[in-house]
Amino acid sequence: MKELLRKGYDPLIVDDLSEGHAEAVPPDRLHRFSLSDTGELRAFLEREEVDAVIHFAAHCYVGESMEDPLKYYRNNAANALNLLEETVRAGVRRFVFSSTCATYGEPRRLPLREDHPQDPVNVYGDTKLVVEKMLRALDRSHRFRSISLRYFNASGADPEGELGEDHHPETHLIPLVLQVALGQRDEIRIFGDDYDTPDGTCIRDYIHVVDLAAAHIRALEYLDAGGETDAFNVGTGNGFSVREVVDAARRITGHPIPALVDPRRPGDPAELVAESTKIREKLGWEPRFTAAEEIIRTAWEWHRNHPDGYTD
Ligand SMILES: NC(=O)c1ccc[n+]([C@@H]2O[C@H](COP(=O)([O-])OP(=O)(O)OC[C@H]3O[C@@H](n4cnc5c(N)ncnc54)[C@H](O)[C@@H]3O)[C@@H](O)[C@H]2O)c1
Repeated sequence: MKELLRKGYDPLIVDDLSEGHAEAVPPDRLHRFSLSDTGELRAFLEREEVDAVIHFAAHCYVGESMEDPLKYYRNNAANALNLLEETVRAGVRRFVFSSTCATYGEPRRLPLREDHPQDPVNVYGDTKLVVEKMLRALDRSHRFRSISLRYFNASGADPEGELGEDHHPETHLIPLVLQVALGQRDEIRIFGDDYDTPDGTCIRDYIHVVDLAAAHIRALEYLDAGGETDAFNVGTGNGFSVREVVDAARRITGHPIPALVDPRRPGDPAELVAESTKIREKLGWEPRFTAAEEIIRTAWEWHRNHPDGYTD
């Protein structure tokens, strides 16, 4: 939202606030309803003369998606279908979709390139792949242009200190580590230190939210300029292990951050790192935040100024 406003767009938000925080967005731009509400959605798209859609809304917990798969297919796939039907009907021709590296499944080669087979190992990843497939089909049937952005691990916070991460429950490594530094948790639990990686812990590609936001603007500009339907990884191409993240957080917070090692979790690949050449070359995107310390520093600033997250 901040980045869109800075670039001169006139963005509106549709969110049912099942997870999000009203406080994170300007109140006059928030429209509170669910994508399952076809009537509201249709009226909104017509009334507001929407000319582009960025589709972020989804349920996002991998573990929960395995325990309650239909909840995920309903919201992430069926409600996305609803949105797509109404978007096509309203004549909107630009669509940017929050996809995920979880659509690749277990890596067969690294770094992950966009043409790596998509074979998700969890329901969450599968629901996102379903939407990518709908978008590819709509391109063929209706010349409906879209960009799927396959995020790696979104992280960090607004460097101006206004926006940060606040999930319930929190499952992301960096906020969890920072909650230990704030005294809200006793220790960080590392799931497995016997992986085939240099320090034995899992390696992930952390993409700063500012860089992620910039990728969406690039995708809109690309579609505006007549770009074709496509999918892009959004990652820096640098992987950090869990231990490297914890060590960087110790340096930045000055807190010892005790860590305990638990057994591996099923379905956690040893390494997920993006090949990011395609987005750099085709969309002209470059990440600004490439070091773990830089990313964690912005998150730390937000967490220590908002130890209880958003007030709502
Ligand atoms: N955070 C990550 O590391 C990451 C990685 C890959 C992909 N993604 C994708 O990015 C998007 C945003 O992720 P996030 O981490 O900000 O999650 P989030 O839960 O903070 O944001 C999702 C938002 O969608 C809203 N929402 C959910 N269902 C809705 C519905 N039916 N109607 C209206 N609003 C609805 C929620 O209230 C919430 O505000 C998601 O699509 C997620 O799958 C995130």
